[in-house]
Amino acid sequence: MVKVTVCGAAGGIGQPLSLMFKLNPYVTTLALYDVVNVPGVGKDLSHIDTDTKLESYLPENDGLEKALTGSDLVIIPAGVPRKPGMTRDDLFAINAGIIRDLANGIAQFAPSAFVLVISNPVNSTVPIVAEILKKSNVFNPQKLFGVTTLDCVRANTFVAELSKDKEASAFDTRVLGGHSGETIVPVFSQSAPEVYKELSDEQKAALVHRVQFGGDEVVKAKNGAGSATLSMAYAGYKLGHALLAAINDTPGIIESTFVYLKDSKIKGATEAYKYINEKLKDSDSSDVDFFALPVVLSSNGIEEIKWDILEKVDAKETELLKIATGQLSKNIAKGTAFIAGN
Ligand code: NAD
Ligand code: LMR
Repeated sequence: MVKVTVCGAAGGIGQPLSLMFKLNPYVTTLALYDVVNVPGVGKDLSHIDTDTKLESYLPENDGLEKALTGSDLVIIPAGVPRKPGMTRDDLFAINAGIIRDLANGIAQFAPSAFVLVISNPVNSTVPIVAEILKKSNVFNPQKLFGVTTLDCVRANTFVAELSKDKEASAFDTRVLGGHSGETIVPVFSQSAPEVYKELSDEQKAALVHRVQFGGDEVVKAKNGAGSATLSMAYAGYKLGHALLAAINDTPGIIESTFVYLKDSKIKGATEAYKYINEKLKDSDSSDVDFFALPVVLSSNGIEEIKWDILEKVDAKETELLKIATGQLSKNIAKGTAFIAGN
């Protein structure tokens, strides 16, 4: 019996993401929540002949409470997307408040749920959710996921284009750091060594740059009509499905996610936190409390952080990780301060 709630379910990501969860055999109830259009989306999906029960809620009549109560997994693609010329950080002004309000709902009505945050800027919205949950004494780092899966998906696709003999599905690229521009650090030296070692320095730099700025490719191509939605729905579903499989006792699944590290009891968190803050960050920037890293999933959520990848990356990737931490520490501090100041 698993209830999944999608917040922002009527949006560009929310609709295809909800469609995929409606098809997932682990999901017994799918609750859709949005501030507009969600009754239509819910009615449409409810005609699909899978066994998942469909519920849809607008804010009125305690809609958020009903959508969240009893939920095991809450996935959040609510908020505004970028237009050409904008950074993800430009979305903070609108999306921070949306995420704060949804996180308050989760703290009250679904305090034990797994929470997957898609809304940008992920580097700041995930800290907002953590701060809200901490304030209510219901924060469990094992259950909070910043969704960085699209970076891994893009890395697999782009490296496959350079491979002589392998398709995208043959790759499982780890992407570390955060989710915006230079905070995105794909580690091809560890994930696709046989392709990576054949590339020139210029080709390596171009491949990394393409992953770091893959979101901009889509924003530009959509030309004002938003950012990645279909590839994002796929990526969000990939992480959500992996988690549902882990909850249902499939052992040893590894996915990358933006995970909370400081004072966390998750295996590997202390080592990751120390390595990042002592070896990859300037001593004068504020702490990097979150980082995208590969994690082992279990029925508890994040069971172990595979931090040792940080020690294995090559010199160029270490340089990129150092650049990432500078930006990341500011993004994380901005999210944390938004709640501390409220
Ligand atoms: P969209 O505008 O198509 O959809 C967003 C939906 O959120 C809309 O239906 C809107 O009504 C809803 N919404 C707004 N306020 C809400 C609230 N308070 N409660 C519930 N729902 C609310 O946007 P989109 O293209 O689906 O993108 C959504 C977010 O996901 C954006 O912030 C975007 O930047 C982000 N995104 C993240 C990634 C990633 O890799 N993590 C990738 C793509 C997009
Ligand atoms: C992405 O990487 O596609 C998303 O973060 C959306 C964006 O703004 O680029």
